[in-house]
Amino acid sequence: MKELILKSTIQVAQFEELADIEQKLIEEAKRSTYNSYAPYSHFHVGAAILLKNGVIVPGCNQENAAFPAGLCAERSAIFAAGAQYPDQAVTLLAIAVRNSKGEFLEEPASPCGSCRQVIIETETRFKQPIRILLYGTKCTYIMDGIKQLMPLSFTEF
Ligand code: THU
Repeated sequence: MKELILKSTIQVAQFEELADIEQKLIEEAKRSTYNSYAPYSHFHVGAAILLKNGVIVPGCNQENAAFPAGLCAERSAIFAAGAQYPDQAVTLLAIAVRNSKGEFLEEPASPCGSCRQVIIETETRFKQPIRILLYGTKCTYIMDGIKQLMPLSFTEF
């Protein structure tokens, strides 16, 4: 038997070090947290995606008393983009979160498994990796594609 070691390297940056468009997308994700409907978790997640045509599509989590009926911020943004701009690749995704005190998280939060799966599908669909920015007030985590967050992913059958 042998071991297979899966490594993942991500960049950690200060907000000021990011490109203008990246800062803009994070600001949009932060703004989206204020539209989040999260009366159960009080975890207000905002997302913003940049499409190839330059359009920015925001999203935020929408909860429901019947828990599985709700939706995460990332998927709400990606599905809204798919509904309005089905031929536009997603190039960049930013995520920001406010906690129950209304404060932005110091450490970046990471997408859930289902969102990672949808992000992978979106990369596969448009044959283009999506650069991901996970915002925290202390630092932003940057990855050049979802594979850094989800090795050995399921993409086809
Ligand atoms: N949530 C997101 O919006 N994105 C994620 O990737 C993780 C979790 C939401 C779902 C739920 O409304 C709340 O955060 C707590 O899990």
